[in-house]
Amino acid sequence: MGSGKFSVTLMIGAPGAGKGTQARYVRETLGIPHVATGDLLREHRRRGTVLGRTARAYMDRGDLVPDDLVVKMVIDRLEQPDAANGVLLDGFPRTLTQAQALDVELSARGGGVAAALFLDVPPGVLVRRLSGRRMCDGCQSTYHVDLHDLPADGTCPECGEHLVQRRDDQRSAVARRIAIYLDQTTPVLDHYRSRGLVHRVDGNRPVEQIRSDLLCVLRRRVPALVAS
Ligand code: AP5
Repeated sequence: MGSGKFSVTLMIGAPGAGKGTQARYVRETLGIPHVATGDLLREHRRRGTVLGRTARAYMDRGDLVPDDLVVKMVIDRLEQPDAANGVLLDGFPRTLTQAQALDVELSARGGGVAAALFLDVPPGVLVRRLSGRRMCDGCQSTYHVDLHDLPADGTCPECGEHLVQRRDDQRSAVARRIAIYLDQTTPVLDHYRSRGLVHRVDGNRPVEQIRSDLLCVLRRRVPALVAS
C-alpha cells in the first residue's frame, strides 16, 4: 500500500439504520470489500478466539467493545491483499478515539476517507426495525419479519441455515446501543463534517430509494471506483 490510492468509504448510522442492508449494494458498486466491525466480531465469537470471548459480554449488553481491540482488528483487516484499493467500512469508527486512530493509519498509507455516508433514521423507527430483525446464523444476511416473506421453518432464504434474533436486539440492549450511539458516535460525525466529508441520506424511506441516493453520492465522491 502507500500508493496514494488507498481510501475508505464509511457507512455511519445508528443501530438499525440500515448500514448492513445498504452496504451489500454499495460494495458491489464500488467493487471493494465490505468490512463491518460487528460481523468481524461475531465471526471471532463463532471461532471462539480470545477477542471473540472478550467481546461477547460487551456486545450482548449493547456496550462498545474497547477501542484498542477494535482498532487492532480493523488495522489487521486493512492489511489483507483484497483491501489494496480500499474498503467500505461499516460500523467503524464509532468513537473519536477510533476516528483518530483511523486518520493516523490512513495517512501513513498516503490515503484518507473518501466519503462518510450517514444514514439518518429517527430513534422510534430504529427500535421497530431491530425488534423485527432476523439474522442468518450462516451467511449473516439480515431480514425483517414485516419486510420479507420468510420461510415458516425459520431458515434463511439465501443459504438454508437458521435465522435467529440477535441477543443485542432485545429491548434493553437496543435502548443502550442507541444511547451510546448518540453519546459516542455523534462526535465522530462532527469530526468528518468539519472536513466536508459527511453526506446525509434520509434512511427512513424504502430501501431502493435510499440505495439510489447513496449511489448518486458515490458517483460524485468516488467516481474512479464507481466507474471501474
Ligand atoms: P453492529 O453489528 O455493527 O450493530 P449496529 O451498528 O448496532 O448496527 P446493526 O447491525 O444493528 O444495524 P444496521 O444499521 O446494519 O441495520 P440493518 O441493515 O441490519 O455491532 C454490534 C456490536 O458489536 C456493537 O453493539 C458493539 O458491541 C460491537 N461493535 C461493532 N463495531 C464496533 C466498534 N467500532 N467499536 C466498538 N464496538 C463495536 O437493518 C436493521 C433492520 O431494519 C433489518 O431487519 C432490515 O431488514 C431492516 N431495514 C433496513 N433498511 C430498512 C428500510 N429502509 N426500511 C425498513 N426496514 C429496513
